[in-house]
Amino acid sequence: MARLDTDRLVDTRNGLISRELFVNKDLYQQELETLFTRAWLFVGHESLIPNPGDYFVSRMGAESVILSRDKAGGIHVLLNTCRHRGMKVCLYDEGNTTHFTCPYHHWSYATDGQLVGVPQYDTLYPGMDRAKWSLIEVAQMANYKGTIWATWDKDAPPFLDYLGAAKEHLDLALDCRDGREGGSEAFLGVHKWIIPCNWKLPAENFCGDTYHNPSHRSVDMIGIGPSARSGTKGRRDDELKGAQHVWVSFPAGHGIHSAIQPAMMPYAEAFRDTPVIEEYFRHCYEERQRRLGEKSRLLPFVGTIFPNSSYHGRQPRSICMWHPHGPESTEVWRIFLVDKDAPAEVKDLLRHFYMRYSGPAGMTEQDDMENWNYATAGARGVIARRYPLNYQQSMGAGKDDDPVAGHVSVQITEENSRRFYARWSDYLAGRDWDVLMGRRDGTPRRAAAE
Ligand code: FES
Ligand code: FE
Repeated sequence: MARLDTDRLVDTRNGLISRELFVNKDLYQQELETLFTRAWLFVGHESLIPNPGDYFVSRMGAESVILSRDKAGGIHVLLNTCRHRGMKVCLYDEGNTTHFTCPYHHWSYATDGQLVGVPQYDTLYPGMDRAKWSLIEVAQMANYKGTIWATWDKDAPPFLDYLGAAKEHLDLALDCRDGREGGSEAFLGVHKWIIPCNWKLPAENFCGDTYHNPSHRSVDMIGIGPSARSGTKGRRDDELKGAQHVWVSFPAGHGIHSAIQPAMMPYAEAFRDTPVIEEYFRHCYEERQRRLGEKSRLLPFVGTIFPNSSYHGRQPRSICMWHPHGPESTEVWRIFLVDKDAPAEVKDLLRHFYMRYSGPAGMTEQDDMENWNYATAGARGVIARRYPLNYQQSMGAGKDDDPVAGHVSVQITEENSRRFYARWSDYLAGRDWDVLMGRRDGTPRRAAAE
C-alpha cells in the first residue's frame, strides 16, 4: 500500500487540518498499520481478571486480543487468533477457563498462550515444535496501577517513559479519592457501543476541548454536566473556586486539561446526600491533602493518552477506549472506576451519577456523540473536503515549559489537538521513536491547502 503524505493534511503551523483524516479509507488502513501496531494502547483493568484463569477479550486497534491471567497469576495480552487456520480461539467477552480451545480443529492453548494440545499430534505433526506455535503475545506489556497497557513494538520506549509527565494527571483518575496510590476497580462492567464517527474526534475532544462546554448546557442546568453547579443531590464543584485551569500537551502526543487550586483550601461540599456520603467525601478530601500536601492542589478534568485512550479524572472517573471500527465508525468502551473499598452507599450514588452522565445512555456523553457523528458526516462531502478545518484557537498563547513537561497553556487552546495530529502524522509517516517521543523534530509541516 502506498503511504499517503499526511504532512500535507496536517498543517499545524497555520492551524489547518484536512477533513480527509476523518473519512479517508486509505488513511484508516495506514493508521492500523503504522500507528496501532506501534503506540502503547490501553487494554483493560486488572480488576476485570482478578483470579487465575480469568480472561477479558479486548482490542488493540481493530484486532481482538485476550487479556488473560494464567494459573500462576501472571497477566498476558494474546492475539485472539489460532495459529492453525486463524479461527478466533476465544468467542466470549469474558470468563474463566483452564484453556482456550479453538472451536475449529481443537488446538488448545494454556492461559499463558502456550500451545499445549494438538489433536493426533504424534501421527499428524511428528516433530513439530509446539512452542513455536503459541498464541502471539504483545511485544511489551505494562501494569500501571491496575491499568494494563500493551504495544506490538519491541522497540517502543517503556510505558512510563511513553506516559512521561502526563503520569501525574492520569494518576488522579487511577488513585483513590483519599490520595492512596492505585486501589481503584472497574465498576459497572464495561460499557460498549458503536458510534458513527471517526475515532480521532473523541480522542481529540478529550485532549482538552473545554471550548465545547456549551454543548452540555442543558445537562449543566440540571446539575449533571461538566460544571454541575446546581442540583440538590448532584455534584458541586466548589473546590474549583479560584482554580487556575491548565491545558498541557506532552511530547508523545498526549493532551490533558487539569486545574490547580490557588492554595490548599478547606473542604467544600462535593456531593450532597446522606450523612455517610457527605462524611465520606469530606474524609477523602482532607485525607488526600494530608497525604499529598501541596500536590493535592492539582485537580483533574480529562485527558487523552495518545492515541485512543482517554480518562475522566473527576467524577465520573473512567477510562475510555476509542477503538477504530472503520473510517467512519468507532467502538467505544468505557470502564468506570471507583475506590474498591468505598462504602456501598457511596458506590450506589456514583453508580447513578455515572449512568446519568456517561456511557451510551449518559446525557453528557450523548451531547458529545451528536457533535462527533455530524462532524464525521460533514467531512464526507465532496465539496466539504476541499476545505480544511480551523484549528487556530490560541495559537502562540502557551509556552514550552521544558522538553519533558511539554507545552502549557493557561487559556483554552487547540494546541493540544494540533500536537495530537502532528504526532499522528509522524506515526503515519513511519518516523522513528526519537521523533515520536519529541526528542527530535520530524518533517516541518506544510500547508494543507497547497
Ligand atoms: Fe484453530 Fe484449526 S483453526 S485448530
Ligand atoms: Fe463533552
